[in-house]
Amino acid sequence: MTSIKIAPSILSADFSRLKDEIEAVEGAGADWLHVDVMDGHFVPNITIGPVVVESVRKVTKIPVDVHLMITDPDKYAAEFIKAGADSVSIHPDTCLDPNATLERIRRLGAKCSVAVNPDVPLSKVEFCFDHIDMILMMTVFPGFGGQAFIPDVLPKIAEVKQTFAQRRLEILIEVDGGIKTDNIARVVAAGGEVIVSGSGIFKTPDYGSTIGQMRRAIHAM
Ligand code: DX5
Ligand code: ZN
Repeated sequence: MTSIKIAPSILSADFSRLKDEIEAVEGAGADWLHVDVMDGHFVPNITIGPVVVESVRKVTKIPVDVHLMITDPDKYAAEFIKAGADSVSIHPDTCLDPNATLERIRRLGAKCSVAVNPDVPLSKVEFCFDHIDMILMMTVFPGFGGQAFIPDVLPKIAEVKQTFAQRRLEILIEVDGGIKTDNIARVVAAGGEVIVSGSGIFKTPDYGSTIGQMRRAIHAM
């Protein structure tokens, strides 16, 4: 259980004080930083580009986990890796050949991951399983921070965990969307290993106490 990673999503941080916010969550015990990249095409929101990732990289030592919600990851993934991304998630419906994109991300030196929306069955992404280091299970529909967690995804997370164990696949399971102190234990019990939380951390007054509560909830399982 000690290997569970907590990855605050900076989407909910105060961007006018981004360096302070990053230092604060890092000091509070964050394991990774999750960066939500949205282009206004694949999702209706526009957020962060490679320039910001480069700046984020300069002020933190923990892994920077980039979640691409953009129509053309083939065109931009390399830029994000050059800017300092340690891992890159793509949505498979944004690539002509998702496995080729994933392999390319890996060749460029980052962990590669496929994102699975709440309404997508595992059978639709199974063809990627031999090409990924991580799977990103979405517990909200991509596009905005602060949405409500969709509990119907929990059985699918358990199914992923079971499938990976049966096939002896060493693939990390990341879960993203609406995770807070009150539901993190259920996410980890289902199989989540890297837990993304945006508003669940950044919209609370004391990041250290929130991350501490999250870890206690996990250990109390
Ligand atoms: C949703 C993003 C999430 C989001 C998480 O499109 O992928 O990473 O920022 O934020 P919360 O935890 O507030 O749902
Ligand atoms: Zn995300």
